[in-house]
Amino acid sequence: MERRGLLRACLLLCLLAVCSGRELTIKHSPSTTIYNSTLAKILVEYASAIYTADLTQLFTWTCARCCDLIKGFEMIDIVVDVENCLQAYIGFASDINAIVVVFRGTQENSIQNWIEDLLWKQLDLDYPGMPEAMVHRGFYSAYHNTTLRDGVVSGIQKTRKFYGDIPIMITGHSMGGAMASFCALDLVVNYELDGVKLMTFGQPRIGNAAFASYFKTYLPHAIRVTHAHDIVPHLPPYFSFFPQKTYHHFPREVWIHNIGLGSLVYSVEKICDDSGEDPTCSRSVSGSSVSDHIYYLGVSMHAEDLSTCRIVMDYSKLQYQMDLTGNLVLSKQPGLSNDRGFSAQ
Ligand SMILES: *[C@@H]1O[C@H](CO)[C@@H](O)[C@H](O)[C@H]1NC(C)=O
Ligand SMILES: *[C@@H]1O[C@H](CO)[C@@H](O)[C@H](O)[C@H]1NC(C)=O
Repeated sequence: MERRGLLRACLLLCLLAVCSGRELTIKHSPSTTIYNSTLAKILVEYASAIYTADLTQLFTWTCARCCDLIKGFEMIDIVVDVENCLQAYIGFASDINAIVVVFRGTQENSIQNWIEDLLWKQLDLDYPGMPEAMVHRGFYSAYHNTTLRDGVVSGIQKTRKFYGDIPIMITGHSMGGAMASFCALDLVVNYELDGVKLMTFGQPRIGNAAFASYFKTYLPHAIRVTHAHDIVPHLPPYFSFFPQKTYHHFPREVWIHNIGLGSLVYSVEKICDDSGEDPTCSRSVSGSSVSDHIYYLGVSMHAEDLSTCRIVMDYSKLQYQMDLTGNLVLSKQPGLSNDRGFSAQ
């Protein structure tokens, strides 16, 4: 009996040693320059806020999700592609002195349907200007072939004109992470902007190995945060016996998961290798959880209104432009406070 107790104590000590050892390496190795968890906790809140159903609340930054870590944010533009049910916003975050760009993915009837669909996504488009690089046309077009691209680029240009060449942090969750990735690449490759940073949460794969390798060249510091058994980063599937032909994540994954024994549980942020498909990260577990998908760093990424794509807003209060197809841009000039920037037409 006593021996067993001793053994258990030993095990516990070892575990503690391993954990604190791990923390020490995180603190003192170059990995702090790879992944900044403080920044991740800020960006995940921005990525969550875009799921606010009421656009007036989002635009005036009065939504429930807008109030936590992210006070002092100045909303500049919200771009809505009504037809395709897509949305992005652009603003200035004074606390991190950066432009923040957030994408929301498509909200189909149920997240389950969307996830099932992901199984069948084909690599069906050659990425322009990058030989051998293939991506999924639907993900690509959601950014490149909708109002989002023009809206986001002009929002960034307007904000940089006012605040100077500050960094641009691009983020998004799920399908929004896929769009954020295409946006970041576009800004670097086609607009030749400096200071573009990407951090996504629970995004699916978007292209093949050749695409991932270009991506890494253009955005060497990109971070894909994955959570425990979240199913979406496992999709569309990766076939390890066919590594050049299947979907392949770009680096670098940071896998957040729990380790521990019984009541001693630690959350670990594992910084993965630079292959994009580190077998010791989320790929080491079966990706089968939807609930792990809608919960990141303690923040709910659940849409407030999953069932529709309906736009809730008070048209009398906001200044907006609508194009011929019914798409919307809510817009302000930078430098105005949140409660003065809009008015009735
Ligand atoms: C991490 O990000 C936060 C917020 O942007 C910043 O204040 C901090 O200096 C960063 N830490 C490192 C080690 O870069
Ligand atoms: C973009 O949209 C146009 C018109 O709808 C279509 O012809 C074109 O194939 C689309 N491009 C991509 C990459 O899907």
